[in-house]
Amino acid sequence: MPSPPQQRGIIVSKLYSEVDIYAEAERLYGVIQQRERWTIDMCKTIAPLTLEINDLKKKNDVFIIAHSYQTPDIIYGVADEVSDSYSLSKAARDASQQTILFSSVRFMAETAKIVSPHKTVLHPSPDAGCSLSDGINGQDVRNLKERYPNIPVACYINTTAEVKAECDVCVTSSNYLTICEKLPGEKLIFVPDKFMGKHLQKSLEGKKEVIVYDGECEVHAVFTGEKIRSWRERMNQQGIELTVLSHPECDIDVLEESDIVGSSEALIKNALQLSANGKKDIMLITECGTAERIIAESENDLNLIGACVMCRHMKKTQLEDILQALKNPMPEQIIEIDKNIIDKARMSLEEMFRLAE
Ligand code: 13P
Ligand code: SF4
Repeated sequence: MPSPPQQRGIIVSKLYSEVDIYAEAERLYGVIQQRERWTIDMCKTIAPLTLEINDLKKKNDVFIIAHSYQTPDIIYGVADEVSDSYSLSKAARDASQQTILFSSVRFMAETAKIVSPHKTVLHPSPDAGCSLSDGINGQDVRNLKERYPNIPVACYINTTAEVKAECDVCVTSSNYLTICEKLPGEKLIFVPDKFMGKHLQKSLEGKKEVIVYDGECEVHAVFTGEKIRSWRERMNQQGIELTVLSHPECDIDVLEESDIVGSSEALIKNALQLSANGKKDIMLITECGTAERIIAESENDLNLIGACVMCRHMKKTQLEDILQALKNPMPEQIIEIDKNIIDKARMSLEEMFRLAE
């Protein structure tokens, strides 16, 4: 009879004294910087978890990587590295630790394994997918290559290892325009994000033909240019000049209405710079984690306007899952990829590092 599945999210720890817990709660309260939602009492409830995770991390020499869309308790409580998909894939490649725990969606943890196959990569939430990476498989790319032979294939990093293995080069939100421009020939296939594909078609117009797949990010697809225009008008009527920052997974009408377009990390850096320069009225057209990092990291006055959208996949991971995966990982929390796929997928990532630098 198969053994019952182990449960996630029910670890109770009695390892720490009241004094340790209070000191950790104060640290968390100070770094998270959201005094109404993350009160000192709330921080006290998570302090035993962050203490134990940080102790285990040191003891077992584990490097914890978190994407910016993870929740603040993970980002400021336990992560060693927080950034966008490009920087995190480099951090995974360059980490000296033998074990990486990747707090994010599955394709990012898979990417860490591809760039450092000799390391153990733990992924606490095996069912945390992504509408882009789940919307295409290796056969879809093979079909495109058959239909359009001898054309370079660029794939967004938001894809499975199997899809990366079929591509010539990988790209991220911070380098897709420059890398695709550098590819040889007058045509290219771009998968799977149709919106990024549309930006590529526009920016490479007259230089290259871009054949685009039909995927989309369910979070960024929600935003519209019309909403930005109406917010701008309303703000203008009050004498407020809005600066709009968008992620390139949004549709082209959104990007055309935006002042700055960039990866999650680029948006955070730009917003912090804007607020430091006194331009405090900022509209963020992206996932909510970006705003949470800006709130935590800004030392200046900020007025974040409009609503963000939450990625249900990114928010699946909790501190309990990280602790459980560190203590006793289930087989599905340890990334395993066929060697043949790793070897091919690594070539597309190495090509990205080469062309991006
Ligand atoms: P970044 O490259 O900006 O981290 O984007 C990854 C992602 O999934 C955004 O939705
Ligand atoms: Fe995927 Fe969109 Fe979530 Fe990013 S925000 S992980 S692209 S579904």
